[in-house]
Amino acid sequence: MNIREDFLPLNRPSIGEAEIAGVTACLRSQWITTGPLCKTFEKQFQDLTGAQHAVSLSSATAGMHILLSAIGIGHGDEVITPSLTFASTVNMISLSGARPVFADIHYDTLNIDVADIEARITPRTKAIIPVHFAGAPAEMDRILEIADRHGLIVIEDAAHAVGTRYRGIHAGGFGRIAIFSFHPLKNITTGEGGIITHNDDRLEKRLRVLRFHGIERDAWKRYGKGGDPSYDIEAPGWKYNLTDIQAALGIAQLARLDEFNRRRAELVGLYREGLKGVAGLDLPGDPAYPHDHAHHLFVVKILAMDRGRFMEKLSDHNIGYGLHFPPCHQLKYVRERFGIARLPETERAAGRILSLPLFPDMTDGDVAYVCAAVREILGGGREAKN
Ligand SMILES: Cc1ncc(COP(=O)(O)O)c(C=O)c1O
Repeated sequence: MNIREDFLPLNRPSIGEAEIAGVTACLRSQWITTGPLCKTFEKQFQDLTGAQHAVSLSSATAGMHILLSAIGIGHGDEVITPSLTFASTVNMISLSGARPVFADIHYDTLNIDVADIEARITPRTKAIIPVHFAGAPAEMDRILEIADRHGLIVIEDAAHAVGTRYRGIHAGGFGRIAIFSFHPLKNITTGEGGIITHNDDRLEKRLRVLRFHGIERDAWKRYGKGGDPSYDIEAPGWKYNLTDIQAALGIAQLARLDEFNRRRAELVGLYREGLKGVAGLDLPGDPAYPHDHAHHLFVVKILAMDRGRFMEKLSDHNIGYGLHFPPCHQLKYVRERFGIARLPETERAAGRILSLPLFPDMTDGDVAYVCAAVREILGGGREAKN
């Protein structure tokens, strides 16, 4: 096949005129940090998820940091989460002083294995953090039932889940706590950013205080007309607020969410068609329960050759790729600090997974090119036996 001249990246954010106009208007407005646009963005997220509160933040990681502090997770506590997730969650659990306890996943969907969550609950367990992996929801009914039976907090890691629904309920809409990410790789972006959604009035107050130095009133309320610039601090906080410049970008992106996710679904359909029957390649499984998939990532598994060699060959074809994720239980500090965990399905998947390019501005031709390259690399697309 002819090698394309330009590089096809794993992801490229889709930034159009509406985003540029929104950000420009914010810059011209002379109020650029946390203010009315953050409020609007938060309200839009309440409407999207059905949650009563939404707190915008500088990242999802920042959200996990203040949330674990706000709900009092720390030394002596255990938090159950999959190992196949981004290290940020495990870092935040570790930095809180708590112990991350890893639940295994289903090899086909890469989503958390609910039975294994229950098997790992101890008297020290305080919370479960399921991940809606690659945009497919975790099995929420069963997770909530187990959590309620054991008196545990559920925090949805919804970093991949803007547009994800489980049985018609959007991530964040289960009356628990969810954290979304707006990193440039995600389904919508604010450059960097995140949001916590939840329904708890007391938690809301605490999160807003912890987000901004421990100060109750943000800059908008202190420096706006008639504002009160004085403050007192009851407990120290961090500096994790989103800015209005970022919210302007987020508002414009959220208006295009359906368009983005429809296109992602189309591209995944083309991938599935184009890669059908390729020997030595496992395509991602979809959960059996009713759901709307946000198609954040398209993660295949390479069986027929060493993944490192496969990545080199993709590079030779000018194609980008991603690794979601190196399993957290195998990270150096996690092994040293928390000991060796055995997670058979995670380990079976870990050495094989690879994310192929997926973003709304990809063309049908881009997908066809990747499929042809994968077929060529894996040996001419011989039919798989099953
Ligand atoms: C599963 C998961 N959780 C959490 C995060 C952290 O998000 P952020 O980069 O906004 O802190 C990410 C981001 O890559 C992620 O993929």
